[in-house]
Amino acid sequence: NDIEKGTYPHYMLKEIDEQPAVVRRIIQNYQDENDELTIEQDVLEALKQADRLYIIAAGTSYHAGLIGKEYIEKMAQIPVEVHIASEFGYNMPLLSEKPLFIFISQSGETADSRQVLVKVKELGHPALTITNVAGSTLSREADYTLLLHAGPEIAVASTKAYTAQLAVMAILSSVTAKAKGIDIGFDLEQELSIAANAIQTQVDDKENMEDIAREYLAVTRNCFFIGRNVDYYVGLEGALKLKEISYIQAEGFAGGELKHGTIALIEEGTPVIALATQEAVNLNIRGNVKEVAARGAYPCIISMEGLAEEGDRLVLPRVHELLTPIVSVIPLQLISYYAALHRDCDVDKPRNLAKSVTVE
Ligand code: G6P
Repeated sequence: NDIEKGTYPHYMLKEIDEQPAVVRRIIQNYQDENDELTIEQDVLEALKQADRLYIIAAGTSYHAGLIGKEYIEKMAQIPVEVHIASEFGYNMPLLSEKPLFIFISQSGETADSRQVLVKVKELGHPALTITNVAGSTLSREADYTLLLHAGPEIAVASTKAYTAQLAVMAILSSVTAKAKGIDIGFDLEQELSIAANAIQTQVDDKENMEDIAREYLAVTRNCFFIGRNVDYYVGLEGALKLKEISYIQAEGFAGGELKHGTIALIEEGTPVIALATQEAVNLNIRGNVKEVAARGAYPCIISMEGLAEEGDRLVLPRVHELLTPIVSVIPLQLISYYAALHRDCDVDKPRNLAKSVTVE
């Protein structure tokens, strides 16, 4: 049964472990009879007709949206804006002529997102919901739905829904690219399978993750995540996971922004988790690590095969550069999980938080 904890102490750990299977299940669910990746024809038409996409989401789903923008723009070459639902609700930007709205929501019930959807429908614009819950409000009220096929997510802190959102948006992007005659230059299906295997290596490395949590996060008040490009967005998600369940004050920053203020917060021993999976900015992010280390920070570098340097705390298996977020988020989830355990926090039901926020 999908929603039994079984031998797991927490739903969160079970859901983290499910991620390789979730990615593989998504590939299967989005394959046609010739095993080619596909999405429904009417969704594809809507994507092809749009001159700009507006992604609307909250929380972890918003962080997935930031990476979704990268996927859609790089593969399908459609401009994308990503907005926090609660902000968009009362501060709508000027819209393009043929907008398509994409609502990303694990539950399909988030009130802030629903309010935007209602407004968008009043204006007569098409909407697509990407959700884990078939028949949810956001799914019923949108014109189109793509499902995450992640299975029920019970832990308040979202894990497998996030990786599922990334995988589905990658598929949506590559299928749209193909329909538009754009050659993305790689086989997404194959690269997603490689990523699923890479996720497996991370969930199999729990002892190491526990060591990192103990070494860096057992007693600290705060923790910073830095990265550039998609690593920055994954850092935002890593920081959210950590604060949600361990109550450590955690913030994600773009590497280049550090010197414009944040670096003032670095003290002796402040943990800084740096993601270094992007070749084009590898030297820059390593420069940032040196800057914080020189001011006393205790850096933990998470890099990838091919870009690794001596002293990196964790080296991820090599995956396609666009898909690194699907893999690099896994150690961040696990490190947060073990940090929360060390600090005796209620991992599955953190204080003050709800799984889905159905009020404004
Ligand atoms: C709540 C949850 C988060 C989640 C957010 C958006 O705040 O605690 O984990 O990311 O809602 O939820 P949704 O279901 O719309 O993805």
